[in-house]
Amino acid sequence: MNATSAFERFATSYQVGDPATADVMSRCANDEVALALLPDDPSWDMPHRLLAGVRLLAARGEVDDFESAGDPWAVFRSVLVEHGDWIGRFVRDQTIQTHVVQRCWVLLPLFLTIAKASQKPLDLIELGASGGLNLLWDRYFYRYKAGTWGAADGSVELSGDERTPIPAELLDVQVTINRRTGIDLHPVDVTSQDGLRLLLAFRRDDRYEALLEHSAEILRQDPPELIEGNYIELLPEMLEKRDPSALTVVFQTHSTIYLPVEERRELRSIIETAGAEGPLGWISTPTPEEHGERRGDYPLELGIWPGGERKIVARTNVRATWLEWQEV
Ligand SMILES: C[S@@+](CC[C@H](N)C(=O)[O-])C[C@H]1O[C@@H](n2cnc3c(N)ncnc32)[C@H](O)[C@@H]1O
Repeated sequence: MNATSAFERFATSYQVGDPATADVMSRCANDEVALALLPDDPSWDMPHRLLAGVRLLAARGEVDDFESAGDPWAVFRSVLVEHGDWIGRFVRDQTIQTHVVQRCWVLLPLFLTIAKASQKPLDLIELGASGGLNLLWDRYFYRYKAGTWGAADGSVELSGDERTPIPAELLDVQVTINRRTGIDLHPVDVTSQDGLRLLLAFRRDDRYEALLEHSAEILRQDPPELIEGNYIELLPEMLEKRDPSALTVVFQTHSTIYLPVEERRELRSIIETAGAEGPLGWISTPTPEEHGERRGDYPLELGIWPGGERKIVARTNVRATWLEWQEV
């Protein structure tokens, strides 16, 4: 992929939700200043990084906000011209930091399935946790066709298009979380203003932004532990030290997609080995390549050991706005 086609593809993904930003990205595809800020053989996400870099500068008050300007492209281009060195470095070094709190809505029924089966408190380990907001899933309020789960008192409210309903009895399951640990190559500290700004710079729509801001407020009251590092390296030792009085549940959403294929296999083998050695829960959105099924859909994979067979129990989309529950 060259820089022009990377911008064109990214512009297409914005066309429906945000045509103004799509227009700016399309113009980048034919603009020498923008093209020069991407390497010759860019990764697919680099236009997103460039857009986020410009937004971050605006959020910090260092440049005008192109999104509220009368001529967005003129403002955007002048930022590229004036801050090209910084933006070029940001594109190279800043991995994509989307953090989709809405995903908790599709994860909750899987967590409740595990909690119901184990009857133990849970120790959560999230792989690719970003800011750790999805480690707080039990503090949010959920709506499904069969009812609600959690406390509504001003918490983050999550709902969506439930194409095949989840079983009503799951909503009676209560959970206790003993530990919450996230691992990320670049954890984002959303207790700091700049950390939250970084996540907001990768925003896709207003609801995404509102959920980030609200859940960050909740996180600040009692933040989870976030460890910086590669989970392929750190996870085996963490699993060896599991607390037998709780059930450790490892989960990941949209992180293994960034791993080389051999590391995806390695992760699967780490989980199989740990499952063979003791009780474990596993929840994951495997990549389309991993499960070899329809592109665009994301299956939700569940594993509970002992006896762990990993099964696809539901389907969703990348933004987790719909859910199709399958029988467990
Ligand atoms: C697209 S974000 C998803 C964040 C969050 N799981 C969600 O669904 O909102 C992917 C995250 O995975 C992290 N990541 C990718 N590969 C990793 C690895 N090998 N070890 C630790 N973190 C990794 C990235 O740094 C990034 O924060």
